[in-house]
Amino acid sequence: MTQVTVVGLGPMGSTMAETFLAAGHEVAVWNRTMSKAEPLVAKGARRAASAADGELLVVSQIGYQAMYDSLGDARLDGTVVVNLSSGTPEELRAAARWVEGRGGVLVTAGIMVPPPGIGRPGAYAFYSGPKDVLDRHAATLKALGDIAYVGADQGLAMTYYQAQLLVFWSSLTSYMHAMALLSRSGVAPKEFLPYAKELFTLLGGDGPMGFAGILAAEVEAGHHPGELNSLHMQAVGMGHAVHALADAGLETTVPGALRALFERADAEGRGHEGLGTVIQSIMNP
Ligand SMILES: NC(=O)c1ccc[n+]([C@@H]2O[C@H](COP(=O)([O-])OP(=O)(O)OC[C@H]3O[C@@H](n4cnc5c(N)ncnc54)[C@H](OP(=O)(O)O)[C@@H]3O)[C@@H](O)[C@H]2O)c1
Repeated sequence: MTQVTVVGLGPMGSTMAETFLAAGHEVAVWNRTMSKAEPLVAKGARRAASAADGELLVVSQIGYQAMYDSLGDARLDGTVVVNLSSGTPEELRAAARWVEGRGGVLVTAGIMVPPPGIGRPGAYAFYSGPKDVLDRHAATLKALGDIAYVGADQGLAMTYYQAQLLVFWSSLTSYMHAMALLSRSGVAPKEFLPYAKELFTLLGGDGPMGFAGILAAEVEAGHHPGELNSLHMQAVGMGHAVHALADAGLETTVPGALRALFERADAEGRGHEGLGTVIQSIMNP
């Protein structure tokens, strides 16, 4: 059993505190709005005297400014701060210097599950920062989910996290456009669901539709063959999809932006290459 102070009791922090309690740890809790601590105190948590009350602080707040606001000018000598809040990689690096300047050490993390997934099979978080420090607390942190250590640079946890969320948000927003388009033709979401599930599965597989792996290999090789399915063909097809959405009276900002990106790569002279050539336009805005 170890002692852990959870700072931030939104949906994530509250579930983290509950999960640590269920794993048998001694848990202290702190939140700007302290009334949110009550259900956790009822389950056995202690009210922390301040956000800096503890040697292992597990922080989950809206962003890094909240950590600065919560810790104020407290000294952090000997304190390990594990912050699982959202931010930018640069903010995380600056926060590491800020914590170090107060005598503590910052381990950063990006957790890849919503509250109901915390501590459940399949849960994991990307962690970065000093590995020896993370290793010392790994047994405690594993209560939240698996640990994916991605490097010493404190910015990296958020880079991986945002990479995952970019795929998550953009693919699911496209899925919502798809459901909206189908609904205009009277097709219910559940009728399309089996095909959507199959596509999500195939994209991560090893077959001819395994584009996660295909694009990774292409980007590593810097070569995007397009003899069988050129970008030009796909830019034209994307234009048809945007027209279909507009004809159906739907919002087209995101699909329209995709079409513009494809058309730019085509106009840059790479229409004969494959879809993967779009990354060249992304990397050279
Ligand atoms: N929810 C999810 O599914 C999910 C999944 C993965 C990662 N995350 C990340 O986890 C973090 C926490 O998310 P959440 O869903 O629990 O809720 P949230 O709305 O992002 O954060 C709420 C927490 O931030 C605190 N807070 C906000 N501004 C503050 C300030 N200036 N000073 C002190 N505390 C401040 C709130 O305190 P008060 O109660 O006093 O307002 C509350 O404890 C976020 O960074 C989020 O991006 C969320």
